[in-house]
Amino acid sequence: MRTDAFFYDGPALLCDGVRLADIAASEGTPAYVYSAAAIERAYRDLDGAFGDYPHRLHYALKANSTLGIVRQLQRLGSGADVNSVGELEVALRAGFGPADIVFTGVGKREDEIQRAVALGVHAINAESPGEIARIREAAARHGGTARVAIRVNPDVDAGSHPNITTGLATSRFGMPVDAAEALCREVAGRDGLRLVGLHAHIGSQMCSVEPIRKAAQTLVALAGRLRAGGVPIDHVDLGGGLGIPYDDGTCVAVADYAATVRSVVEPSGLRLLLEPGRAIVAASGVLLTRVIDIKTFPNGLRFAIVDAGMTELLRPALYGAYHRIEPVSRRAGAEEPFEIVGPLCETSDTYGKRRPMPPIAVGDVLAVRDAGAYGSVMASNYNRRLLAPELLVESGAWRTIRRRQTLDHLLALEP
Ligand code: LLP
Repeated sequence: MRTDAFFYDGPALLCDGVRLADIAASEGTPAYVYSAAAIERAYRDLDGAFGDYPHRLHYALKANSTLGIVRQLQRLGSGADVNSVGELEVALRAGFGPADIVFTGVGKREDEIQRAVALGVHAINAESPGEIARIREAAARHGGTARVAIRVNPDVDAGSHPNITTGLATSRFGMPVDAAEALCREVAGRDGLRLVGLHAHIGSQMCSVEPIRKAAQTLVALAGRLRAGGVPIDHVDLGGGLGIPYDDGTCVAVADYAATVRSVVEPSGLRLLLEPGRAIVAASGVLLTRVIDIKTFPNGLRFAIVDAGMTELLRPALYGAYHRIEPVSRRAGAEEPFEIVGPLCETSDTYGKRRPMPPIAVGDVLAVRDAGAYGSVMASNYNRRLLAPELLVESGAWRTIRRRQTLDHLLALEP
């Protein structure tokens, strides 16, 4: 989803009117900067695309779970999708109630199930008969009824990067349709469990509507068979996965995505849940990084070594992901190809290969675009590097939503 949060005004790259160069000068680099307005627009666009059909977006916290961002989504009316007890607690602290939360995850620990059951979350998206048994035991211990949805593996190829394709028969996620159907029938008759829905998440960064159409068809057909057999189903949860255009091309338009899902689900009358992450926050964020050194080799390669790397933004190293890279103060002159690389001793620590860039010099600040999803959340302390701060631009000013980590923060855990 393109937003117009980041744009050039002459040579200066702005975030909602605030100069990114000013933020870098004041806060240092590396630093994540997000636009609150872009998050709000993305949320409202997607939510609005489903119109008056009964639905709820459960923002997938895994994309970005910094409290300031999660609080904003809570205020906008979103629900939450959490994938660990850590995300569950963050969602609660951000103001979500248990009824707003769905809990997904292929490997939920005992303590995580206990906490979710004790709270009474809206749905635990259960992955297996074993997990159902563990949820039931937890419900018995708490003397209540746990709301569960069964995660189905519809054997659909999401067509995205293999590392983030999760709906194939060879994937570990969910259960094959027939097994899921049998489990639903079993669960429906059990004390301590209430079957509320069916769930599928087939992959992330999808740039075609066909996989999501197939997954939706599978879930709706299964719900139909179950209902015909006297097993009530309240909702279908189609997970996340809506992609964004990281390059200057296009991906799926929000309206097409929503129209496709609606056309399949609407005849069933089933309430619709979605768990978007990337589509809400990716385009709202940039990672600011400063050029530390420039080296030109006799073979013609020109390296710009920057002060952020795979420790701050892992996506290029892990998936070969493309992110646009733009100077925050554009110098005049012809574009030349640069290798934009991080400071770690890993060849995969590369943000861009042969990137045509306007002239850049040591000390210049670059913005790595579309870094709002799966950026800060996947950061690490490798090389004893400290987590970058996160800043939220709102109403023409910025505020810190996470401070820069210090060595003392890190070493506080080491006696
Ligand atoms: N629901 C479930 C059950 C998920 O596993 C995921 C993402 C989502 C929702 C949100 O998907 P989204 O709308 O953001 O595509 N680190 C990777 C992405 C991993 C996605 C994992 N699951 C990346 O940087 O591309």
